[in-house]
Amino acid sequence: PTNKLWGGRFKATVSEATDEFGASISFDQLMAEEDLMGSLAHVKMLKATHILPAKDADQIIAGLKELQAELAAGKLTFTVENEDIHMNMEALLTEKIGPVAGKLHTARSRNDQVATDFHLYVKERLPKVIAAIKNLQTVLVKKAEANVETVMPGYTHLQHAQPISYGHYLMAYFAMFQRDVERFEFNQKHTDLSPLGAAALAGTTFPIDREMTTQELGFASPYTNSLDAVSDRDFALEFLSNAAILMTHLSRLCEEVILWSSYEFGYLELADQYSTGSSIMPQKKNPDMAELIRGKSGRIFGNLMGLLTVMKSLPLAYNKDMQEDKEGVFDTVKTIIPALSIMAGMLATATVNKAKMQAATERDFSNATELADYLAVKGIPFRQAHEIVGELVLKGLQTNTTLQEIPLAEYQRILPEIGEDVYLDLQAKVAIERRQSLGGTSFKGVMKQIAAAKEILGQG
Ligand code: ARG
Repeated sequence: PTNKLWGGRFKATVSEATDEFGASISFDQLMAEEDLMGSLAHVKMLKATHILPAKDADQIIAGLKELQAELAAGKLTFTVENEDIHMNMEALLTEKIGPVAGKLHTARSRNDQVATDFHLYVKERLPKVIAAIKNLQTVLVKKAEANVETVMPGYTHLQHAQPISYGHYLMAYFAMFQRDVERFEFNQKHTDLSPLGAAALAGTTFPIDREMTTQELGFASPYTNSLDAVSDRDFALEFLSNAAILMTHLSRLCEEVILWSSYEFGYLELADQYSTGSSIMPQKKNPDMAELIRGKSGRIFGNLMGLLTVMKSLPLAYNKDMQEDKEGVFDTVKTIIPALSIMAGMLATATVNKAKMQAATERDFSNATELADYLAVKGIPFRQAHEIVGELVLKGLQTNTTLQEIPLAEYQRILPEIGEDVYLDLQAKVAIERRQSLGGTSFKGVMKQIAAAKEILGQG
C-alpha cells in the first residue's frame, strides 16, 4: 500500500510530476472555509443518525472547529502531496486527532464533497455580486436625476439620430443592469441545492439524513438525483454566463465613456482618480480603467467558453475534467466585483460637459425627423415629407445652413400651412419634450423611469 488516501489498492506512488499536475490545492484552497462547513454538517449528521458513535463524532467536531479557528488565523498550510483541499483538510484533522479522523469520510465521497463546497462558494458570492450591481445602479439613477434635462445627440450607427436626454441614456443602462440582477437572483435557485449525501454517485447504504445536512448548510433543498448531484455544474455555467452578459453591458458603457472623453466628443471628463497619464506625452489623460473593464470582458467570456467546453461531453457522473470548473469561476468573482465598483466610482466622479453635449445637437440635423413629422401632421404623407426634408438637409449641408435657419417664406413655398411654430419643433429640447410615448425620452418620461428605479432599489 502507498501513503495516499486510496493507498490500499496501489503498489507504487505516483511521480512528482503526476502529483503536481493532478493537484488542485493551489486554487481550491479558496474553498477551505466551505470545506470545513461541509465536513461539520456531515459529521453532525453522522452523529445524529448514530452512524458514528457520539464520542468519535465529538472528537471530529472538536478537531474541525480547531481547524476553523486556525484557518481564520491564517495558520493552516497545505501541501501538493495532499492534492486538494478535501484531502489536505483530512490530513490536517488526522494530525490533530489521530486515526479517528478517518471516520469522517463515512458515507461520503470527494465527489459530493467538492460539489458541496463549490455550491457553498457560489451561493455565498451571489449576493455580493448583486449588491455590487445595485451600487452601480444607484450611481446611474443619481446621475440620471441630475441630468434629466441634459440634451445630447442620440445615436444609431454612431451617427447623430435624434436628440435625447442624457438621463434617458443613463436609465437604459439601469434597465440592462436590472436584468443582470434578475439573472443572478435566478442563479441562486439552482445554486441553493445540496449535493451532500450523493456520495460517489449512487447514494449510500448508510442511513444518512440528507434533509439534516441540507438544513445545516442553509441550502433550500437537496438534489433529488444522486447522479445529477455530483455531475451538475449548471449553477456555475449560469454564473459564468450571467457574468459574461454583465460584462457586455459594462463593456458597452466603457466604450462610450472612452469615446466621450475623447477630444472629438468631449462630453465627459473622468476624475483624476480614474485616469492615468502618459510617461512621454505630458498632455495625456487616459481612460485606462474603462479600457481595462472593456478588456476584461474577454477573460470572462473565456471563462464561460472554458467551462462549457469542459462539460459538454462528460459522461455521468464525476470525471476529473471537472476539477477545471473552479478557476474560471473564482477568477470571474475576482474580476466582476471590482469592475462594478470601479465603474460606479468612475461614473459618480465624471464631469458631464452639458454645454458640449447640447452644442452637438445644434448644427447636426438631428431635428430632421421633427420637420418630417411636422409636415406629416400638416397632411403631407410621411414618405413624401421624408423626401422633402432629405433634400433640405442635403442643401443645408452644402450651404452650411441648419433647418432652423431656413426662412419661413422658403418653408411656405413648400407648404403654405407651415407656420412660425415650426421653429419651436426644431429645438432639440422641444423634440425631446414631445417624445411622450411610453418609454420615450421626454423629461417627464425620464423622471418616471427614475421614480420606478428608486422603487426597485428600495429608495422610493
Ligand atoms: N479535486 C477534485 C476536484 O476539484 C475533487 C474531487 C475528486 N474526486 C475524484 N474522484 N478524483 O474536482
